[in-house]
Amino acid sequence: MIKNSQWITVPEQYASGDVCPVFRRRFAVKDPGSVKDAQLTITALGVYEARLNGKRISDYVLAPGWTSYEHRLQFQTYEVSALLEAENELTVTVGRGWFRSPMPGAVMTEEIRRRCAQPCGVIAELIISDNDGCENTIQTDTAWEVSESPVRFSEIYAGETVDGRFVPDLWMPAAALEWSKDILIPQEGEEIRETERVLPREIIRTPAGETVVDFGQVITGYVEIHLGASAGDEVCFLHGEVLDEEGNFFNTNYRSARARVMYICRDGEQTWHPQLTFFGFRYIKLLSWPGDPVPDNFAALVVHSDMRRMGRLESGLPILNQLFSNIVWSQRGNFLDIPTDCPQRDERLGWTGDAQIFVKAASYFYDVERFFRKWLHDLAADQRATGEVGQVIPDIIKTAPGSAGWGDAAVICPWQIYQAYGDPAVLREQFDSMCAWVDFIGKATETPNLWTGHFHFGDWLALDAPEGSYKGASRDDLIASAYYAWSTGLLVRAGEVIGRDVSRYRELHADVVNAYKAAFPDCRTQTEAVVALAFDLTDDPERVAADLAERIRRNGVAIQTGFIGTPYLLHVLSRYGYDELAWSLLLRTEYPSWLYPVTKGATTVWEHWDGIRPDGSFWNGRSNSFNHYAYGAVADWVFEVAAGIRHEWQHPGFEELLYEPHPDRRVGSLRAELETSYGRITAQWVYKDETIRYELETPVNTRVCLPGRHFHVKPGHYTFWDR
Ligand code: BGC
Repeated sequence: MIKNSQWITVPEQYASGDVCPVFRRRFAVKDPGSVKDAQLTITALGVYEARLNGKRISDYVLAPGWTSYEHRLQFQTYEVSALLEAENELTVTVGRGWFRSPMPGAVMTEEIRRRCAQPCGVIAELIISDNDGCENTIQTDTAWEVSESPVRFSEIYAGETVDGRFVPDLWMPAAALEWSKDILIPQEGEEIRETERVLPREIIRTPAGETVVDFGQVITGYVEIHLGASAGDEVCFLHGEVLDEEGNFFNTNYRSARARVMYICRDGEQTWHPQLTFFGFRYIKLLSWPGDPVPDNFAALVVHSDMRRMGRLESGLPILNQLFSNIVWSQRGNFLDIPTDCPQRDERLGWTGDAQIFVKAASYFYDVERFFRKWLHDLAADQRATGEVGQVIPDIIKTAPGSAGWGDAAVICPWQIYQAYGDPAVLREQFDSMCAWVDFIGKATETPNLWTGHFHFGDWLALDAPEGSYKGASRDDLIASAYYAWSTGLLVRAGEVIGRDVSRYRELHADVVNAYKAAFPDCRTQTEAVVALAFDLTDDPERVAADLAERIRRNGVAIQTGFIGTPYLLHVLSRYGYDELAWSLLLRTEYPSWLYPVTKGATTVWEHWDGIRPDGSFWNGRSNSFNHYAYGAVADWVFEVAAGIRHEWQHPGFEELLYEPHPDRRVGSLRAELETSYGRITAQWVYKDETIRYELETPVNTRVCLPGRHFHVKPGHYTFWDR
């Protein structure tokens, strides 16, 4: 039981607040050959890197991950017998991590100061069992020692400074720390790992004379360097996602996140990378480097939650395939233990709205069940007494009010995880939290059965807003009330699935829908029409859909939607017979569109439709992320509608397939693959001359809906033809 161990920390005489401490414990093992099993259970206040006899005990990086630390702190258990020797040294280096870095970074508040001043700590237990059944237990206590480590500084946004020459030599006894052990929970999420190495595309000399390494892909992780040097040589670099109009290094959009790495070399050949922080980047600008750098000196290590790949998309259009690739890279870049808005600037936070917008697409590309269940436990843990869900989870901006479309993550994410994978456990775990959110709206509104008069982000970043504004023209009260209806409706279904009495919510749902129809009989923007259709809030969907189509055409077949309207836009167009228009929006390459950033060389999804404008200038130098997955939600339309891989909500996890593809000749072909717990679904259509060929491989009973033909098929491989 790790809870029998003692929390330890640095003693008062420990020299510097910036330097990351390394804790150590030496111990002997009489006969390492007779060890059957050695289990190290460990966690830290901060992020840790543990080594046994100089070797890393695991490939899990940035452990213990990010949870709502006040309530929940994951511990990890590793089997380490292979690393044991007769004389052993276990070391644990602890960085500030998410626990003690100044987060979020924009303004230093009292609360941030308090969090940063928290102690670092380690708690661990190593149980060594031999073949005779004898157990030897080593626990953290004041017999452990602590010293400064080579990591002179490490913070989430600021970066890391390491002195490769430094050898810990001033060891002092660790101090006991009073800290809760009730918060300790076993690892719940996926482990965070280095999943890929990206080699530089080239080293550039910019017009401003800077030396910049281009990795050719925006990633999240860190750069490994390999070089021969003399002791004291300095390596220093900054991270950036894009070059500016002139082709110079640019990272003003990181705002206060310094994202700087500094390494002081020892003598000889050496390979090193940061270990207690991460960055979002494509480029690094070298501020100092001994000699002339060559591409072989660098590799970018991609770091994220190690999720299993589930789905793939491939079309006949390279530009569309690049968009699919960008969406997957934005998921990888932002699924680093929690779903974040972006991985580069001084946020990197678990924005609830972004997560609920993207959860469906995410659940098709990767298996995100464990990932979301862990995060949703944090959401419930951080939910306020009123049921309000904050803007970010873990909720490190507690004073910020919840918003419609953001707090609804409490309901939409569990529902989607259940729908994607079919296990109702997530609904059981989250049900109280889901109810509490819906109940909160009832208390927060000024008008019964609607949600009026509260703070909201609205149709965030929509284009029908005045120049420079973040918020679109759609009415806040309308969006909030629409989500009230939608979340209440999903809550009713969830309750039915797990056998809870939801009669009260069923009535509430009907009341909200009626109140909505009475209060908002007209739609004034694209997004207003989209939510009315997507959330079944109109008695005349055909008219609303026609109006939406007309608005889009009047706007030059271009989107104006932001975070709220965009995820559902193509779905509702297809549902009401406007497939061609939906495809035209997706295939459009001029600004604004999904493909426009691709024409500008994007390798991830941008936060803003106009992150880089057609004339090369930036939308805004500061609040402009080039790795923000929200608009990548369009991929769920490609899986479900374009490729046709869907299921009724009564058949979660693709227990039965509803195959209804919506092809378009302009694309030539589309192939979608999806792993499910029933097996792999493959759906493909290909245009050839006047005909279209559909190929379907299904592991489950399937209802096939092709133009003019509806029929059922059993598991198997099928080919259908059409004109
Ligand atoms: C984040 C968003 C988030 C928003 C709230 C931004 O700074 O990056 O993606 O949802 O704030 O509206």
